[in-house]
Amino acid sequence: MSATLSFDRVSRRFQTRTRVVHALENVSIEVRQREFTALVGPSGCGKSTLLNIAAGLDTGFDGSFSLDPPKADRAYLFQSPRLLPWKTAQANVAFVLEARGASRSKARTAARHYLELVGLAGCEHQFPAHLSGGMRQRVALARALAVDPALMLMDEPFSALDEITAHRMRKELLEIHQIEPRTVLFVTHNLAEACFLADRVVVMASDPGRIVADVTIDVPRPREHDDLRLSAYQRELSRALFDHSSTPVSTDSPNQQAPATTKGDPRHATL
Ligand SMILES: Nc1ncnc2c1ncn2[C@@H]1O[C@H](COP(=O)(O)OP(=O)(O)OP(=O)(O)O)[C@@H](O)[C@H]1O
Ligand SMILES: [Mg+2]
Repeated sequence: MSATLSFDRVSRRFQTRTRVVHALENVSIEVRQREFTALVGPSGCGKSTLLNIAAGLDTGFDGSFSLDPPKADRAYLFQSPRLLPWKTAQANVAFVLEARGASRSKARTAARHYLELVGLAGCEHQFPAHLSGGMRQRVALARALAVDPALMLMDEPFSALDEITAHRMRKELLEIHQIEPRTVLFVTHNLAEACFLADRVVVMASDPGRIVADVTIDVPRPREHDDLRLSAYQRELSRALFDHSSTPVSTDSPNQQAPATTKGDPRHATL
């Protein structure tokens, strides 16, 4: 099962001590069933805010958000694995299943299955402190997959990993996605990662947080990291980011496109 989600003119403001932050302004986006959508954009453009709304954790927004089916199971994977340190890898995964009503033995069997799926067979009885950062993140991925979510929300899940481990995790994630496609919203600062993984990349800009480009990555899977078509998409996304990187848009006319004032060499784009 997978879900469809729709943000319709969603605005989210935060009142700080000194000013009102326009974290999102009139953001509209539809994500289709089984679509893998990556969100990229500079720090503070509202990516996590969008994910929090999709997760149902933030309800203080204007506009509307809908999920179909409305009670679809959601899993949220963060940059850090957030495991329970006093539980083994297997117990960390089984815990969420038991909390959803599975019997202890069923939960353990399922936990072993998902740990195997993310390449952690043999590590079931290890505690998080005895696993590497990459292995801990795999446990978190197994835990997310184990609840069989219709919607996967992933907020920079691989950004704290070394490049070789991140590379493996991306390949594994794509393989899992091909076996059982779910709707995925994946936040990243890494354009190569976005192009490699996603069916579609949504580019955001800040002040106010808004969508400035929406690009379909029309490259069949399985994909190779060095595919020149992916590099071309990466350049296109770099340009979109740079063109909107330095000019805040008046929040009185949120649909207005910001004129690009700083033209950098897109090959060196960093977020
Ligand atoms: N609870 C809050 N209170 C006040 N301001 C907030 C709150 N949450 C987010 N913001 C502000 O809203 C804006 C968007 O934040 P958000 O965390 O969504 O950005 P982001 O795109 O995920 O950034 P990053 O790439 O650094 O994670 C930022 O300016 C942030 O400071
Ligand atoms: Mg964030």
